[in-house]
Amino acid sequence: MGRGNLSWTKAEAHVDLALTVNGARRSLTIDTRVTLLDALREHLQLTGTKKGCDHGQCGACTVLVNGRRINSCLSLAMMHGVDEIVTIEGLGTPEALHPLQAAFIEADGFQCGYCTSGQICSAIAMLDEVDAGWPSHVSEDLDGHSTLDSHEIRERMSGNLCRCAAYPRIVEAIEAYAGDRRETTA
Ligand code: FES
Ligand code: FES
Repeated sequence: MGRGNLSWTKAEAHVDLALTVNGARRSLTIDTRVTLLDALREHLQLTGTKKGCDHGQCGACTVLVNGRRINSCLSLAMMHGVDEIVTIEGLGTPEALHPLQAAFIEADGFQCGYCTSGQICSAIAMLDEVDAGWPSHVSEDLDGHSTLDSHEIRERMSGNLCRCAAYPRIVEAIEAYAGDRRETTA
């Protein structure tokens, strides 16, 4: 597997690494054990991605890697030298929100907001999974033709926990965005 621009430095167990994050190539020197989450937050100051459990259980750290959602706390940064990484900072800005960010605001889909960037990154990849015909655990049609109703959304988003229990409005925001997206692409 290709690992990008890695080169060992004199400091043992450190690597010079370049990551492509939100379309920009970023250089950093890190301990080989640094997770992608810590590389983003501590080394690249992209603190929109949150650390909840640091154990793959809450989804707060969800980012997109080559368009797929991953828990960045469970992946080493040095594995991603050749990947395209997108964080919440790469989806929208306060001046130009991503439509799903706008849908979360419209639906009041958060309280403290700690889980929100993970919810949004996860939902974007989830909708691509639906488009690709991936069934979920609750899909009746395994050929990927199930309707994306709230039951499906809840199951497909079950890896993203919300300690404020804003789930009804998170689902509402995702449903609204998914509907607009369908109309746009129809
Ligand atoms: Fe990564 Fe909780 S911080 S899953
Ligand atoms: Fe507070 Fe989800 S809005 S954890």
